[in-house]
Parts: sequence; structure tokens; C-alpha cells
Amino acid sequence: YAELQTYTELDFHPIEDGHCDVVVEKPTVFMKLDAGVNMYHHFCDFVNLYISQHINNSFSSDINIVMWDTSLYGYGDLFGETWRAFSEYDIIHLKTYDSKRVCLKDVVFSLLPRMRYGLFYNTPLISDCYSEGMFRAFAQHVLHRLNIPQDGPKEGRVRVTLLARSTEYRRILNQTELINALKTVPLLEVNVVDFKYKDVPFLVQLRITHNSDIFIGMHGAGLTHLLFLPDWAVIFELYNCQDESCYRDLARLRGIRYVTWQKMDKVLPQDKGHHPTLGDHPKFTNYSFDVGEFMRLVMEAADYVTHHSKWQRRTLHDEL
Ligand SMILES: *[C@@H]1O[C@H](CO)[C@@H](O)[C@H](O)[C@H]1NC(C)=O
Ligand SMILES: *[C@@H]1O[C@H](CO)[C@@H](O)[C@H](O)[C@H]1NC(C)=O
Ligand SMILES: *[C@@H]1O[C@H](CO)[C@@H](O)[C@H](O)[C@H]1NC(C)=O
Repeated sequence: YAELQTYTELDFHPIEDGHCDVVVEKPTVFMKLDAGVNMYHHFCDFVNLYISQHINNSFSSDINIVMWDTSLYGYGDLFGETWRAFSEYDIIHLKTYDSKRVCLKDVVFSLLPRMRYGLFYNTPLISDCYSEGMFRAFAQHVLHRLNIPQDGPKEGRVRVTLLARSTEYRRILNQTELINALKTVPLLEVNVVDFKYKDVPFLVQLRITHNSDIFIGMHGAGLTHLLFLPDWAVIFELYNCQDESCYRDLARLRGIRYVTWQKMDKVLPQDKGHHPTLGDHPKFTNYSFDVGEFMRLVMEAADYVTHHSKWQRRTLHDEL
């Protein structure tokens, strides 16, 4: 940590000798964040925290968490409910302790954001590495602690969630047509969502995601939701905007099926894209999609889901 460069060993006992402005008794985790404003980046933080807990072999939520966010934007708490999976108390911002000498009796420093071999955006993976137990355990831990239930498929229908965007870029221009096409298939139960925090609180978002069998969305941090899909689910990154590895790799780690658009003559960008400084850029425009090709990919995904043994068991259970 750059923050610990001035660390020195003391030749006195601060607590006994009365040198502390604050004494913290409760076990405490210190965490430097990757970034709290973006779901992908923030979940790198939570995954690191979870792995750190494995290293210390302690999972009690009767702990303090002290964190600092070094991103330019400061800490946004759009995903803040997730802390509850790790601590029963409010998160402490490091700056609360500004200019105080704080003495802690029991401390763990979480693994660093962006550390080598850690999880970060476009983290390099071992080739052919698939279905990493740690990520599944992480998802189950979070879902369990936050009380997010799996309602199971109803009447054998495949639950399709399409994540719409209300940002300036990467809109699906013919979204209405795609949705209408989905709705013509009786097997599919279609739900369109726009995960804006003020309309859909994060725990409600998680419940929707965890109860989706196929989750469809454009490239963007919202696809980090794939971590919380059921094991039999398919994540369909409608178009990856030429950032090919990010969500494909996250799906590999989580061990769920990944699908993306393949036929470049059947996706139509609105224009060349407008990156604020780099000029033409595929992430900075909108797209329309060939309806027939879209349906072909969705039906392949539905076929995968309905043939998955875990999904079949859930459906059977439902019928009994
Ligand atoms: C780390 O593990 C030790 C040993 O079990 C425990 O006493 C301590 O409270 C744990 N620390 C945190 C921050 O959970
Ligand atoms: C993409 O669509 C949004 C919403 O309609 C619009 O504001 C934006 O200008 C479009 N982007 C481009 C590059 O045309
Ligand atoms: C999107 O859907 C509309 C309506 O069905 C269709 O006219 C249009 O061709 C589609 N876009 C592409 C790229 O196929």
C-alpha cells in the first residue's frame, strides 16, 4: 500500500500508555477499493474481501469494515447493500479517522485491488480455466447472506430478462421489435428491466437476476449481474462492442454459459461512435439487431437451459 509507506514500529504500547485517540476492539478489515461507482469494479472489491476472509478463515459479520475509495469519482453506494453480506454494521470511511491516532486490537488487511492474480477488469485468466469454485461460492455466500431466494421456473417456462440501458450509448435501437419477437414464443417468460438504482433497489435487482434463466444485455458493467444467475443460466452479451474477453471470462469463472452476437453482417451500428477523446469507438454508439438472428441465439440458449439437469430438477420439483 502506498498508504503504509511511512509505517514504523513503535517502541511503546500505545493502548496501555494512553496514546490513542480511538481504540477499536472489534475485529476490523481494512480495504482499499478498486472503485465503488461501477458494478464490475466494486464486485472485484467484494470478491477480494471474500477471498481474504477465506485466508483468515473467519466469516463472522460481527466485524467492522474500514474502506477508502481512490477513484476520481469518490464512493458511490449504488451497490452498498452488498456490504451487509460481510458486516452487520455501517461501513466506516477511512476519512472518518482523519488526523486521529487509531489503535486497533484485531485487524486484517484485505487483498489489494488489481493485485496480480486477483480479479480486475479484463483480468488475465489461465486458458481453459472454467467454473472456478471460488466464484460460485462467492455468489452463494452473497445470495444467502442477503436472503435472495430462487423461486424456480414456473410451469416449465424459461425466464428471460432483457437489461435495457438508459445511457447515451449502447442502446438497442430496435429493442421493441426484439421484445415483441420474444413474446411470440410461449416457452419464454419475458421481462424487460432498466436497473436504475432509484427505480430498482439493488437487492431487488439481485432477486430479478437470480430468477432469470437467460439474461440478455449490451456490453456494460450491468452484466456483472451474471455472477448471481443460477447455475443453469445463459448470459447473452448481445454485442460485446469488440471487448471480447471481459464478460466471457467472468462467465467462465462463474461457470455459466456465455453467448454473444456472432454474425457481423447482422448487427448495425448507428455510426462510428464518439469516444470523448479517442474518436471512433464501438462502445460509444447504438446498435440495431437482426430479429431472426437474435431469436436463433435466444432459442439456442433456451435449449441449453431446458436440457440442463439442474433446471430439469427444479422444474420437476415445481410440478410435484
Ligand atoms: C481473523 O481470524 C482470527 C482467528 O480466527 C480471528 O480472531 C479474527 O477476529 C479474524 N479477523 C477478522 C477481521 O475477521
Ligand atoms: C444513442 O441513443 C440515445 C438515446 O436515443 C441518443 O441520446 C444518442 O445520441 C444515441 N447515440 C448516437 C451515437 O447516436
Ligand atoms: C430491427 O427491427 C426492425 C423491425 O422489425 C427491422 O425493420 C430492422 O431491420 C431490424 N434491424 C436490423 C439491423 O435488422
